[in-house]
Amino acid sequence: MEATAIAHTNIALIKYWGKKDEKLNLPAVGSISITLKQLFTQTKVRFSEKLQQDFFILNGLESGEDQRSRVSRFLDLNREIAGSSLFAEVISNNNFPTGAGLASSASGFAALSLAANKALGLNLSQRELTIMARRGSGSAARSVYGGFVEMKTGGNETNSDAYAVQIADESYWPLKMLIAITSDAEKKIGSTDGMKVTAKTSPYYSAWLASSVNDLAEMRTAIARKDFKKLGALAENSCLKMHGLALSAKSGLIYWNGATLNVMHAVREMRKNNLQAYFTVDAGPQVKVICEEPAAAAVKEELAKVDGVMEIIFTGLGPDAKIIGEEEN
Ligand code: DP6
Repeated sequence: MEATAIAHTNIALIKYWGKKDEKLNLPAVGSISITLKQLFTQTKVRFSEKLQQDFFILNGLESGEDQRSRVSRFLDLNREIAGSSLFAEVISNNNFPTGAGLASSASGFAALSLAANKALGLNLSQRELTIMARRGSGSAARSVYGGFVEMKTGGNETNSDAYAVQIADESYWPLKMLIAITSDAEKKIGSTDGMKVTAKTSPYYSAWLASSVNDLAEMRTAIARKDFKKLGALAENSCLKMHGLALSAKSGLIYWNGATLNVMHAVREMRKNNLQAYFTVDAGPQVKVICEEPAAAAVKEELAKVDGVMEIIFTGLGPDAKIIGEEEN
């Protein structure tokens, strides 16, 4: 009753921000992401009669009550299907800073979905696993697959069509991403709370929803044509639109720091000098810069010169989440 899985993080090129159902964690908009090779979570789950409660150990430390209950609620969904009442110990390790806008909940819940599925013998299909992962975190649905992935918002009565699909695998188009780390602090307002206040208070929320279908269609076309300039421009626009929306919420969600902006300007300067690179930023201060393989070294060199950049992580596109070990005991 024990299994270990690995799932890679993903970065959205067309962003998810907002829910149409909080309980089921149904995204209000679809999204398109790339899965990253270099950043991943490894998670082991062990169900046992000997445990009196669930345990969640993240990066070697027992987690706080909020995180533990989020994991517990997620395990409940799995136990319900399995008809099991066994508690579990979840041991999870990220190979990157947690909570600083590097999508640890995405790789975390994708890895946990696979591990729990195996440990409980649920036999969920990959598509069903994306639905399960979504219940943990919307972006986690996309980390079930490698390469280019779309999360569908769905719309049927049972919500069985709110799942992720792979658009193309990681070998289809070897894009590169350079992640400029501008802070290693935990983010103050997580995505879940940020989305909630945005949907409630931003006057732009309906416009965000309305423009989403077209953004997704254009991104699918850019990927199909391997049109890098189009992909980059769409990604940058989706990012700025999402942050404009978050800024317009009543509490004014500012996820950036000064260095975040420095990097954005530097990327635009690179393009003026014919170095093709585009940025995207999630609910944190790190800047993810996308480029094609031949430009990567030069882009990295330019990013290293930007004021406030502490570290640069270089990565290509990563594979599907997978099981790496299991034991019956
Ligand atoms: C800005 O998936 O973390 O990274 O479903 O509430 O767990 P929950 O939110 P989460 O939100 C991700 C927001 C984003 C954009 C994206 O990844 O699409």
